[in-house]
Amino acid sequence: MNANDLNLLARAEVRDLASYNAGLGSDAVRKRFGLTRVAKLGSNENPMGPAPAVTAAMAHACSEIALYPDAGCQALRAALSKKLNVPEDHLVFGNGSEDLLSVISRVFLDHDDEVVTVVPSFGLHFIYPMAAGARVVGVPMTAEGTFDVAAMVAALTPRTRLLMFSCPSNPVGCTLSADELQQLLSALPAQCLLVFDEAYYEYARWEADYPDCLGLIQASGKPFVLLRTFSKAYSLAGLRVGYGIVSDPLLADLINRLRTPFNVNRVAQAAAVAALADDEHLQACLSHVASERRRLAVALQEQGISTAPSMANFLYFSTPYPAEVINQLLLREGVIIKPWREAGYANHLRVSIGSCEDNDLFLQALARVLAVQETRTD
Ligand SMILES: Cc1ncc(COP(=O)(O)O)c(C=O)c1O
Repeated sequence: MNANDLNLLARAEVRDLASYNAGLGSDAVRKRFGLTRVAKLGSNENPMGPAPAVTAAMAHACSEIALYPDAGCQALRAALSKKLNVPEDHLVFGNGSEDLLSVISRVFLDHDDEVVTVVPSFGLHFIYPMAAGARVVGVPMTAEGTFDVAAMVAALTPRTRLLMFSCPSNPVGCTLSADELQQLLSALPAQCLLVFDEAYYEYARWEADYPDCLGLIQASGKPFVLLRTFSKAYSLAGLRVGYGIVSDPLLADLINRLRTPFNVNRVAQAAAVAALADDEHLQACLSHVASERRRLAVALQEQGISTAPSMANFLYFSTPYPAEVINQLLLREGVIIKPWREAGYANHLRVSIGSCEDNDLFLQALARVLAVQETRTD
């Protein structure tokens, strides 16, 4: 069979789908460019690593890996229920929150349904609904890098089955005000599920301007799934644990029908319980990100680059040059960041807040790369 015939074996929706841009790992960059030191700032990971108790919890779970994990994530469910003051049957778990995005798309979307999201966006907010046959309407953010709430409201129609976006936004870092969230909640059509992706919640929650989104959404009485993850502030990205808070246990039941039964592995469940218990470590991670984010924004400004205000563990910015060009030059310098590939944002890049040393490496490499570009275009 030739490539064309093989392609035809796939469902029509999958044939034209773009792959998610997962970026390169440190080892691949080290090998490709013969480097010893690499700053990995492309995936919004936590440079401080997980809470100390996570290692012991994982070691204990490892002694039991011959056994399937708890399909209901009971220990983690109980711990989260207590922490969030949410009933246990209002929680769903995924192999990362991206797993839940996939399951949600398959459970709630049919051919030709509409999904409203924002642009620039987290890639999977497009990819999974499109794979389910839905039409995704991407509402551009404002030129200032804020949610265009009026345009989002205008995009909602009786055919909209999901309103799905991240807040804080990935990649911009902006958030909704309480008033803006209320406007969206009031405008949700009947038969529309709000999928509120709060992957960066922990970073934003201590900021004075960040509303209690969960509280506001719960109070609205609208159907929702609010997604969070242990990959970012809790530093368990390599283990893959995410969760959703739902408005009604029936939504949890529907989601559970299509997830793989043992989707969160034994080690990941144990690690998440241990991570959740250590507030002190979490606070240390959040403080590091807040102060380094400020330092990085100022240092970039000194290089003539303004960043969108961010409440998350990354900064979004543009340069006068194509992001792919800057990205390739930075990779040679041992710096991995994320070039944006959505149409209209081809000069934009997102850099994660890393360790102080990695952030310095990025700043120095970017200054060199931009200086070279300037001499080329002069
Ligand atoms: C907005 C958003 N949602 C979901 C995810 C997926 O997170 P995970 O699958 O690691 O829980 C990410 C990861 O970068 C993200 O940025």
